[in-house]
Amino acid sequence: MPGRQLLMDFEVTPTSHTLEAYRARGGYATLEKALRTMQPVDVTKEVTASGLLGHGGAAFPVGRKWSVMKPGDDQPHYLCANADEGEPGTFKDRWILEHAPHLLVESMLIASYALDVRHSFVYIRGEFDLPWRRIQGAIDEAYAAGLLGAKLFDTGFMLDIVVYRGAGSYVCGEASGLITSIEGRKPYPRNRPPRLTVRGLYQKPTVINNVETLANVTGIIRDGAEAFRKVGTAKSPGTQLVSISGHIAKPGVYEVEYGYPWARFLDVDCGGLLHGAKLKCVIPGGISTKVLTRAEIEPLMLSHESVNPAGSSLGSGGMIAIAEGTCMVRLLQVLLRFYHHESCGQCTPCRDGMGWMHRIIDRIVAGKGVAEDIDRLYAISEANDGTTICGMGDAAGYATIGILNKYRDEFEHFITHGSSKCDGRLECLA
Ligand SMILES: Cc1cc2nc3c(=O)[nH]c(=O)nc-3n(C[C@H](O)[C@H](O)[C@H](O)COP(=O)(O)O)c2cc1C
Ligand code: SF4
Repeated sequence: MPGRQLLMDFEVTPTSHTLEAYRARGGYATLEKALRTMQPVDVTKEVTASGLLGHGGAAFPVGRKWSVMKPGDDQPHYLCANADEGEPGTFKDRWILEHAPHLLVESMLIASYALDVRHSFVYIRGEFDLPWRRIQGAIDEAYAAGLLGAKLFDTGFMLDIVVYRGAGSYVCGEASGLITSIEGRKPYPRNRPPRLTVRGLYQKPTVINNVETLANVTGIIRDGAEAFRKVGTAKSPGTQLVSISGHIAKPGVYEVEYGYPWARFLDVDCGGLLHGAKLKCVIPGGISTKVLTRAEIEPLMLSHESVNPAGSSLGSGGMIAIAEGTCMVRLLQVLLRFYHHESCGQCTPCRDGMGWMHRIIDRIVAGKGVAEDIDRLYAISEANDGTTICGMGDAAGYATIGILNKYRDEFEHFITHGSSKCDGRLECLA
């Protein structure tokens, strides 16, 4: 693993997910420290000072989100750990759920103390089996040990955590869709304002954070914000879990210190590409982030301030390496099929736009494309920008424009000749 490790600083063993193993590593001592020596507001201050950014995709500052909550305002507050992990290419939260579920439970206890929460939820994607069994097992162990459901360490604080299994829709991971799903309704995202921290689950103030975001909280409170900031860069403190897949020699989950050279990560730590292939481009952080070519990546560091000005984002850390020879037209077809399938249908530009784009790309791949199709894909993508309730409409457009801008020649070739310019390595990705 490149960089220093914060989250994954323990060896994975067949029992590392158990309470016994977690306690042997000092687990739950940080919770005791927080409850005995810190006021809730001090916990939020420490998390704010750490500069921790959200790991669910938007890199929103955690302290700023938490600071909206008003402990003691005499109404229920809720915390939800977003374990939906539906972004294609992203599989890092499942690593935490499978190997370090007690780290999430302890972090949720500390966060709930800070936010004056008594009922928390883990919203987990329905397809997850082992991650679900592990997090449910950890919660059961914590109840049995008096770490949940009871007043802790002779303080007045207690918490219940419920695991809620989703039913397999991408929009369930969108924060407001997630809330309506827990409430037992269709997971339709909703417009903001009001923000979820003002009116969220059951109309009450609610914080939704990604699993990895929350998993950082225990380390921050254990070692302090200053220690956390010593890792990473000034604008991107700490580390990021990167799940890398595609044509890469050593796929998997890596914890990378922000600021680590991107090319070195791919070439050295991940062993370069399969069968010595050359890198064509990378989808940096889930398919909703814009593709970057090998040449663009060369000078970049894995940090928000390095990647964002290059026109993309680290998103949810779901990196996909794409080898030369891959047909970008057919790759876009895969993405648009996904977006069309997952559109919840509330917004006309997303519902109809995804269908149009999917039909256009299918037509091109069938060898029946016409020259105007490229401009049509641009026009529909641009029409989605900022006109939909949730970020999915924008994301599909960004992904499409990102590919068209860099690989327009491949689309023109497909339309002119009715076949791909490339030798079709995309099959390896399927
Ligand atoms: C369509 C869609 C799907 C999303 N799926 C996820 C997801 O699976 N997991 C996640 O943490 N965030 C997901 N998000 C982002 C959440 O809305 C939210 O910003 C995030 O959970 C906040 O956590 P963070 O601040 O810790 O990053 C999704 C957003 C959109 C628009
Ligand atoms: S943008 Fe798409 S997925 Fe999001 S709310 Fe609108 S129709 Fe649903």
